[in-house]
Amino acid sequence: MPHSSSEAELTEAPFRNHDNYEELSTIGVGSYGTVFKARDRSNPNNIVALKKVRVPFTEDGVPFSTLREIALLKQLDQYEHPNIVRLLDICHGQTFEREQQLVLYLVFEHVDQDLSTYIERCPPPGLGSERIKDIMFQLLSGVDFLHSNRIVHRDLKPQNLLVTNGGNVKLADFGLAKTYDFQMKLTSVVVTLWYRSPEVLLVSNYATKVDLWSCGCIMAELFRRSPLFAGQSEGDQLDKIFRVLGKPPEDDWPENVTLSWNSFRNHPPTQLPDHIPEICNDGVDLLEKMLLFKPDDRISAAESLNHPYFTSSGYAPALQLLASHSPNPSLTPPSQTSQGSPAVSPRSTPASLVSGVSDDSGHSAEK
Ligand SMILES: Nc1ncnc2c1ncn2[C@@H]1O[C@H](COP(=O)(O)OP(=O)(O)O)[C@@H](O)[C@H]1O
Ligand SMILES: [Mg+2]
Repeated sequence: MPHSSSEAELTEAPFRNHDNYEELSTIGVGSYGTVFKARDRSNPNNIVALKKVRVPFTEDGVPFSTLREIALLKQLDQYEHPNIVRLLDICHGQTFEREQQLVLYLVFEHVDQDLSTYIERCPPPGLGSERIKDIMFQLLSGVDFLHSNRIVHRDLKPQNLLVTNGGNVKLADFGLAKTYDFQMKLTSVVVTLWYRSPEVLLVSNYATKVDLWSCGCIMAELFRRSPLFAGQSEGDQLDKIFRVLGKPPEDDWPENVTLSWNSFRNHPPTQLPDHIPEICNDGVDLLEKMLLFKPDDRISAAESLNHPYFTSSGYAPALQLLASHSPNPSLTPPSQTSQGSPAVSPRSTPASLVSGVSDDSGHSAEK
């Protein structure tokens, strides 16, 4: 590999070799790489998920953005947030000089299934309303944690949410936005559109609120056990959205976007309970706020956690989360980064889940 300051960073904190793990089976072949179930050779009882990612390098070494993203993932992990999948280790694999690629293995705790399998496995009549509330609270807690660390997930969907057999929900597949953008150019795999917000579909400016749209789509799917908006192309996806929520007024349409307002048929808004029969009134209100067309008007993760859907029904998530998901909860923030600034804001510790107080205003997009 060529010499550079980025390379120096890699050798300063050398990655272990992935031979430390014995691959047992393939869990998933996603859009960007392969995930294996594996056993830690130094501790055979330890079953992990190995995610193989190809990282580009140039003559300047591995791009700083990639190293930064990986460092941030590791930094975040120190908080042991109950709704974020644990990143246990990072290992190096082969280097492909000709393709200018380096294989890295991200070693995650192994979680029993993803939410899509969990929904499929659930016998009729489906998930109960309290179970759905609990899943949503955990999802939004994880999203709030990412957003308060300036990470936009951008691809929240049932396949990227892991669920333990005990019902603990953990966000996965985030944080490598720049690496992934590179990967995306290399693969022709179609990325599902079903959870994408209008501003992503229209390629407008976007930030944290894209994740709240996806949370809304996931909430609807938990009740319905089928996607709310299952489009086949960007235009069709938007049409499916407008058929349910109504076509927005022209004034609300973002400027300088690929698809024009005129190219969509008019649809009046319909009632969400017509599409989601089991949902309660507070649930409808929260869902409507997550599925607002204009991102600025859309509810934030922090605000969602304080919505009456959770607060007015005697649901007690924080204690449950702290007691059952964090066997040894440490409220002490991890040490500071080399720049001297904390990578994670203190309010994102589990303690803030108890108070539920947070301000979403300072978040910025991390594309
Ligand atoms: N830690 C894990 N434990 C168990 N299964 C996992 C884990 N991480 C990912 N998976 C499974 O592998 C699939 C692909 O992983 P993901 O990280 O989403 O990669 P991709 O970027 O390819 O989508 C997921 O949809 C999930 O089913
Ligand atoms: Mg994925």
